Amino acid sequence: VPVLANIGLLATCAAPGGQAELHPVERAAVAFTGGVVRWAGRERELPATFDAEERLDAGGRLVVPGLVDCHTHVLFGGWRADELERRLRGESYLEIARAGGGIAATVAATAALSDDALVARARGFLGEMARLGVTTVEAKSGYGLDLDAELRLLRLQRRLAGEAPLRVVSTLLAHVVPPGWRERRAEYVARFSDELVPRVAREGLASACDVYVDEGAFGADEARRILGAARAAGLRVKLHADQHGDRGGAALAAELLATSADHLEHVSAAGIAALARSGTVAVSLPLAALYLDAPPAPARRLVDAGVPVAVATDFNPGTAPSLHLPLALLLACTRGRLLPAEALKGATLVAARALGLDGVAGSIEPGKSADLAVLDAPSPLHWLYHFGPNDCAMTVAGGRVVWRREAPP
Ligand code: NIG
Ligand code: FE
Repeated sequence: VPVLANIGLLATCAAPGGQAELHPVERAAVAFTGGVVRWAGRERELPATFDAEERLDAGGRLVVPGLVDCHTHVLFGGWRADELERRLRGESYLEIARAGGGIAATVAATAALSDDALVARARGFLGEMARLGVTTVEAKSGYGLDLDAELRLLRLQRRLAGEAPLRVVSTLLAHVVPPGWRERRAEYVARFSDELVPRVAREGLASACDVYVDEGAFGADEARRILGAARAAGLRVKLHADQHGDRGGAALAAELLATSADHLEHVSAAGIAALARSGTVAVSLPLAALYLDAPPAPARRLVDAGVPVAVATDFNPGTAPSLHLPLALLLACTRGRLLPAEALKGATLVAARALGLDGVAGSIEPGKSADLAVLDAPSPLHWLYHFGPNDCAMTVAGGRVVWRREAPP
């Protein structure tokens, strides 16, 4: 039974209370075995049964649950740095997409890479995430578009999940109608719903289905069709909602009893109220807002309305080409007006809830996965206040040390 001891402050992030309630314990220790937490509490109360065990030293630091990045598009080929410059020169995201850039450019670059090359790239990204303290990552398909190409990506994600040091969970994403199907979009939606969705569910290739509802993507009725099929197949439902404008996405997510509604940069007051009633998690993606110079999701108003708010990276080559989840948390505070404690719970327990994993991950409690991040800070507030490129000294995922910083010379 390994014991992580000498913890200055343990933010357990247990569920009870509001989003700012982290259930902290000072001078703490955590004992775990078989990848599962057995005991967490004050170090001087550590049961004697754990005494002679293997010790890991937190060095008096802050320990938080392994971070959960609950919205990424981590499997893709190529980059789109040129689009950053085009936007800086005045073109909009939608203009670039209409001119053949955007998602279509990444679909082509993804098709051009071999299976091995795609998985190796994504594994590299996951390694970088682990070094930042991340232990669970959601990965969306969506850069295949054609049904066979989407299946290919989900199969590669399954391979990735088997090879990665972190927990990887897959979501099937209906991203946009592929170019070859523009004249037959109803047929694409029908085949996506009636062929791809049941197959993905049957083969266990994803636990959720997500639809990008926006101008240039899917409309509300198309999302109802796809997500109705997803629910019938036993998949969880998610929505990319209200990113580039208010299209009633939040209310639609509530209507479909979505587990999460993601983006919400332009959510209306009625949309916020609908989410509060349905218990849907709002996922704020402030890196996408940063790169697009757009307003962030109104995280403060959402939390105040009683909506749990998760924070994630949206890591993708177009709108959020950074995988830095702690930076997303800082932005959720300075731009979304969350308190640092709320942001931390948003990237742990609330993010796990957005994946239906809150029974397994997201907090440090007996019975949960031993996912831990040791941070060079005295508190969550100080962590985000004195923001560093990487404040993570050690990451434990499923009871295994997957990252440990060399002691400075
Ligand atoms: O989450 N919003 C849609 N999809 C991705 C980005 C797509 C892209 O530009 O590659 C997102 O922002
Ligand atoms: Fe996204």
